Amino acid sequence: MNTSIAPAVEVPIKDYRASIRFWHWANALLISLQLMTILFQKVIVKSKSAVTELQSSGKDVSVPQARELAHIISERIWAWHIYFGWALVALWVMRLGLQLTGPSELRFSARLLEILRRYRLAPPADKSKAGKILFAKATYALFYLFITIMVATGLILIYEDVSWLKGIHHLAEETHNVTMFLIIGFIVIHVVGVVWAEISEDHGLISRMVGGEKKGVA
Ligand code: HEM
Repeated sequence: MNTSIAPAVEVPIKDYRASIRFWHWANALLISLQLMTILFQKVIVKSKSAVTELQSSGKDVSVPQARELAHIISERIWAWHIYFGWALVALWVMRLGLQLTGPSELRFSARLLEILRRYRLAPPADKSKAGKILFAKATYALFYLFITIMVATGLILIYEDVSWLKGIHHLAEETHNVTMFLIIGFIVIHVVGVVWAEISEDHGLISRMVGGEKKGVA
């Protein structure tokens, strides 16, 4: 007979239902696409420096023409950045909706509090495992903060012509830039952590995040 006593209210700390999985992979895709637009804009195409190269190569193209072409290419890349940006705004709104109206399994705050409670109550032998779970959850909390900053500052950059936003435009731009590096840092830690968990103790974690939890499987 199992004599262990379950807590009065067991809040699940993981959830693989379709809405969360969709949100996760759509975000992963869109953030990758956003990073690619920046890679093209700032590293691969780098249209501004291409104008200088063209000038020094002595080709029969006038500087204003070259500048105009560089501007068109740069604007096209930014246009895609803004389309993907709007899609990220939509996902952010969807996540907020799940957080505010969804059941506790879908509410990040409920799961975070539950993990914190389990960490506090864990006996010394289980403290390290509970600590790792808490660390992973804390990085997700930071990710939600970063994506919120990205969406808010991105919107400020889109509406740069609105007079009351002009005063914070530069701050928004700098914050948008810096937060990109924080998101890249999160992605590295997240991917390494997930692969490590999959290999060491949580086999099937990645396939559950893709295909959901199979009924009847613990
Ligand atoms: C994680 C996703 C994102 C990344 C990595 C990212 C990265 C960047 C970076 C590095 C810049 C250049 C800033 C500069 O030149 O100083 C930029 C500009 C911009 N971003 Fe994002 N961004 C993301 C999400 C968003 C979102 C969600 C929106 C819209 C809601 C957005 C809208 C913009 C706009 C309007 C600009 C300025 C474009 C221009 O100069 O014409 N971004 N982004």
